[in-house]
Amino acid sequence: MSEKFTGSFTQQEALPEAAIEAALNVMRHGRLHRYNVAEGELGETALLEQEFAAQVGAKYCLAVASGGYAMATALRAVGVKHGDRVLTNAFTLAPVPGSIASVGAEPVFVDVTENLTIDLEDLAAKADQAKVLMLSHMRGHLCDMDRLMQICDDAGIIVIEDCAHTMGAAWNGVPSGRQGAVGCYSCQTYKHVNSGEGGLFVTDDAEIAARAIMLSGSYMLFERHLAAPPAEAFERVKFETPNISGRMDNLRAAILRPQLRDLQTQVARWNARYQVIEAGLRDTPGLTVVERPEAETYVGSSIQFLLLDWAADALQEVIARCAARGVELKWFGPPEPVAFTSRYDSWRYAKAQSLPKSDRILAGIVDMRVPLTFSLEDCAQIARIIRGEVSAVFQAAS
Ligand SMILES: Cc1ncc(COP(=O)(O)O)c(C=O)c1O
Repeated sequence: MSEKFTGSFTQQEALPEAAIEAALNVMRHGRLHRYNVAEGELGETALLEQEFAAQVGAKYCLAVASGGYAMATALRAVGVKHGDRVLTNAFTLAPVPGSIASVGAEPVFVDVTENLTIDLEDLAAKADQAKVLMLSHMRGHLCDMDRLMQICDDAGIIVIEDCAHTMGAAWNGVPSGRQGAVGCYSCQTYKHVNSGEGGLFVTDDAEIAARAIMLSGSYMLFERHLAAPPAEAFERVKFETPNISGRMDNLRAAILRPQLRDLQTQVARWNARYQVIEAGLRDTPGLTVVERPEAETYVGSSIQFLLLDWAADALQEVIARCAARGVELKWFGPPEPVAFTSRYDSWRYAKAQSLPKSDRILAGIVDMRVPLTFSLEDCAQIARIIRGEVSAVFQAAS
């Protein structure tokens, strides 16, 4: 009898007791709106912003309703207008081109490499096509950020970092989100901290920060922020910046603060799981492990491998055989988008673009969540199952 995995790929851990206590406290006093504070009280949302700014070494931080909202706000705050073109990754998920479409701009897709990062050659070739790059650190893979920033600085491109999958990650010790003009993070349930929905926005630029705070719906209450620029920065923008409400509330902020304090511990736990799976998959014939560069500090909350140049039906068979043994894999190859997984040619509001190099790689990307509810033994078992099924299908095909 072949072994079967019985765990859930979508079950997150319970929130820490400190988060539950903090949530109860907010519910008991009832001041959930971020600007609803008692005399002299520092609200949970303002404190969260202050703490996250310190954690990543940013001057300014804004907590918002979602990661996607943070990204759209970043695009607006750096001045992207209707009809502008914005460079972005061909390999990413729907909220990324969606944020560009939400401001009426047009995504221009940049190829993906076999390391699952943005193709810097293709980026350099397309650098004259847009003034902004929405850089998605998709599935936590960081490209050579020094080279990327060089290309963008030389071309006068403003970089916004989508760090939905890289909260806690770093490139050469610089926290993800701190090389571009803006870093955007998601606090949605499947990310590295969990408030159901939520986002964080960081920048060192006073004007971008002031615009973002006005955009998020601060009315004229920006002086209640603890990680905001001085009042003069708002004088320049407060009459010309629309209110597009997307604030965070004190309940979510309250449950995020203790989780952010635990982030490094959680990263170590994710990486221990990731490394067990990676070791179990290494040297499987037909399967390519995605190597992580030395400069990258990653967060192994998901794992990807490549079945490069496999026939689609063989790949589908691997997915089906693993599913039958309880292992939920996602594939970037099917022509129709499935659940959370879609491809650049599924986003038909964007102009049709042909990226044959990316098509080859996307057709081979297999992706799996690694929730912290899995034990190290679970991870070893999952790797055995994948290895067994990939080997069986590969041998039958060769
Ligand atoms: C790559 C990527 N960027 C951005 C987001 C947006 O995050 P949110 O769901 O908080 O809007 C997600 C969410 O799934 C994502 O996967």
